[in-house]
This record gives sequence, structure tokens and C-alpha cells, in this order.
Amino acid sequence: MTLPTPAPDSRVLITGASSGIGEALAASFARRGHHLTLVARREDRLRDLADRLNAAHGVIADVRPADLADAAGRRLLIDSLADVEVSVACLNAGFATYGAFAADPDRAREQVEVNVTAVHDLAVALVPRMVRRASGAVLITGSTAGNQPSPNNATYAATKAFANTLAESLHGELAGTGVTCTLLAPGPVRTEFADVSQLGAIESRLPEFAWVSADEAAEAAVRGLDAGRMRVVPGVVAKLQDLGGKYTPRTVLNPILKKVYGDLR
Ligand SMILES: NC(=O)c1ccc[n+]([C@@H]2O[C@H](COP(=O)([O-])OP(=O)(O)OC[C@H]3O[C@@H](n4cnc5c(N)ncnc54)[C@H](OP(=O)(O)O)[C@@H]3O)[C@@H](O)[C@H]2O)c1
Repeated sequence: MTLPTPAPDSRVLITGASSGIGEALAASFARRGHHLTLVARREDRLRDLADRLNAAHGVIADVRPADLADAAGRRLLIDSLADVEVSVACLNAGFATYGAFAADPDRAREQVEVNVTAVHDLAVALVPRMVRRASGAVLITGSTAGNQPSPNNATYAATKAFANTLAESLHGELAGTGVTCTLLAPGPVRTEFADVSQLGAIESRLPEFAWVSADEAAEAAVRGLDAGRMRVVPGVVAKLQDLGGKYTPRTVLNPILKKVYGDLR
């Protein structure tokens, strides 16, 4: 078991805790007795979650509203964590865009800020502190999309390739330090993700068995973290997608996925 033991002065940091996988991660850690620091932009949602988890499990949940797409917002968040012992960092916030490359340059740039820069900034701030304590765990939410070329979803897939590679590289680099790093690489998970990405069609295109719930994804992630695993891929379809993305030649995948992603909007 590699997860740090819950302690009164330590916190599990979760970005993207206002909905979906992040909210479910918060519940999963709270059930195990961990105190939390919850990050997202929607403060009302974070406060409501903090109150619910406190009532149900007696844990303290600090609420840190922050826009991770904004450099000043990231800096304020990181500064506010200076005196906090972050025992586990779940770098999970993210979103996708679909459609022609650079159709919306501002939204695409925002996506890189949240999915890449914020993950990197927080890891840079927190991992050395964990290594000095010889204790800690990092969970990075990438995606099966990060293993494959994704025409019409190019910026998102590239951001998740960064997340996947960062997580697996840190897994190797941190071995023996007392700190672990695990990649959560989900396939389809029922959250607000499709709405935020304006991907309504995906709901009707994918059969029910392709989906896992946010709770299933979060539980698999926390169990994987505790077991010190490098990569957690929740669900059978996601596992097939994961293998297909890794081992099918890209010249074969590219035209297939261009059709798939081109038809989704
Ligand atoms: N659902 C899937 O099918 C799926 C598949 C593979 C990977 N993933 C990954 O899983 C992670 C969680 O997504 P989800 O499925 O749980 O989607 P979700 O329900 O839409 O949750 C996304 C979370 O990210 C936060 N977020 C987005 N932009 C932010 C910003 N600028 N600043 C701070 N927080 C921000 C949102 O909070 P606010 O809006 O309150 O800021 C929200 O809490 C993402 O990294 C996503 O790429 C999801």
C-alpha cells in the first residue's frame, strides 16, 4: 500500500473537483478519511461538496476557487499551498474541444493552459516537496486519447499525450523516493465532459456498455494509486481503446479516427 495515511494536517489536493471524476475522487478519498483541498472555478459547487463530505465522513475540505487557465490564478493557488502538506495531488481538471484545428484559437489555448500548463506548474511546485518528505502520491488524469492521433480533436489529444507521458515518466523517475505517480487514462466516462466539449452526439453514438461512471473511474484510480500502479484504465472498452491506440499503426488509425471525430459534432 503506497497511499499516505490520512493525517489532521495533510490534504489531498484535487483539481476539477466541482464535477465528474474530480468530485468522485473527493468522495473516494473522504470515505478513506483524508482531508481535502478542492480546486475548480465554481466555488458554490466546491462549498456544497465540502459540506456534504464533512457531514458524511467528518473530513475537512478546504475550498480553493481558481481559474487554472489563468497564469495569475495558478500562481495564487500555488502560493496558497505553500504551508499546506499536500499528501496526494490529483491533477485532474481538464476539458476538450472538437472540430477543425484552431476553429476557436482562444478556447484551444485555454485548453493547453488547463490540461498541460496547470498540470506541469502544480507538479513542479508539489513533487519536490513530496520527495523531500519521502512521502506522497500524484495522480494525473490523461486519457486514452493521449495514445493516438485524433484528427478533429488534435489539441485535446496532444494535451493528453503530454499528461500521459508526464505521468508515466514521473512514475519511473520517482521509483524508490517514497513518492508515486499514477496515470488515470479513462475512455468514455459519464460526466459533464461531453456537454462542456459540445459533444452531444457522443451520448447517442456510444453504446451503454462503453461508459463507466465517474465513481467507477475514481475508485479504480484510488485503488491504482494505493497499489503504486503506473497506469489505470477504467472499463473494458477503454482498455481496448488503450491497446488499439498504442499498438495500431498510426497510418491505419488516422483515417478511421478522422471519420469518428469528424462525425461527432
Ligand atoms: N469524461 C470522459 O469521458 C473523459 C475521458 C478521458 C479523460 N477525461 C479527463 O478527465 C478529467 C476530468 O473530466 P470530467 O470527465 O470529470 O469532466 P467534467 O465533469 O467536465 O469536469 C471537469 C472539471 O475540470 C474543471 N475545470 C475545467 N476548466 C477549468 C479551469 N479553467 N480552471 C479550473 N478548473 C477547471 C471543472 O471545474 P469548473 O468548471 O468549476 O472550473 C470541472 O471540475 C479531464 O482532465 C478530462 O480531460 C475525461
